[in-house]
Amino acid sequence: MSNTVDNSKRRFLTTAASVVVGGAGAAAVAVPFVASMLPSAKAKAAGAPIEVDISKLEPGQRITPEWRGKPVWILRRTPETIADLASLDDQLRDPNSENTDQQPDYCQNGTRSIRDEVIVLVGICTHLGCSPTFRPELAPEDLGPDWKGGFFCPCHGSKFDLAGRVYKGVPAPTNLVVPPYHFLGDNRIVIGEDAKGAA
Ligand code: FES
Repeated sequence: MSNTVDNSKRRFLTTAASVVVGGAGAAAVAVPFVASMLPSAKAKAAGAPIEVDISKLEPGQRITPEWRGKPVWILRRTPETIADLASLDDQLRDPNSENTDQQPDYCQNGTRSIRDEVIVLVGICTHLGCSPTFRPELAPEDLGPDWKGGFFCPCHGSKFDLAGRVYKGVPAPTNLVVPPYHFLGDNRIVIGEDAKGAA
């Protein structure tokens, strides 16, 4: 596996790392550690909030815990990608998150988040429900020279930026959903409940 990263095109750390498995010396790809303090299966099925430890989440990395049977993306954005968001507004269908169904009111802002560096999104396309792929690289050939990182839905080609805002001219009608959430200190996020305890 090559660990070469083209830093001119990538602002994100590669999340893969080689680890030795047991004594066999086999290499495997490690995914970022997700420490979810999961409730019981019964509570989970009923939609109980989940608590996620993001202390090991580096800038550029994403983790995907599950909440209510759905993937939730938690991405720690870099300062550069946060600065890029405003420059995309002209290309987006709802740059100011005016559709209030798609995020709690405390995330109706320029970064769609409580803290600029951490974005939390339900990872389901708002067109027909596929799960978009994470495409953090800059200007990849298939997404064009203006691409500044985001999410691409392979089913019908919808595109979203790193705040989950939908581009114009794609089938998805709305921005990705930001679930209710709040922080417990610096490194824990409760997903499924806002700071007042409302789901
Ligand atoms: S389901 Fe994503 S573009 Fe259709």
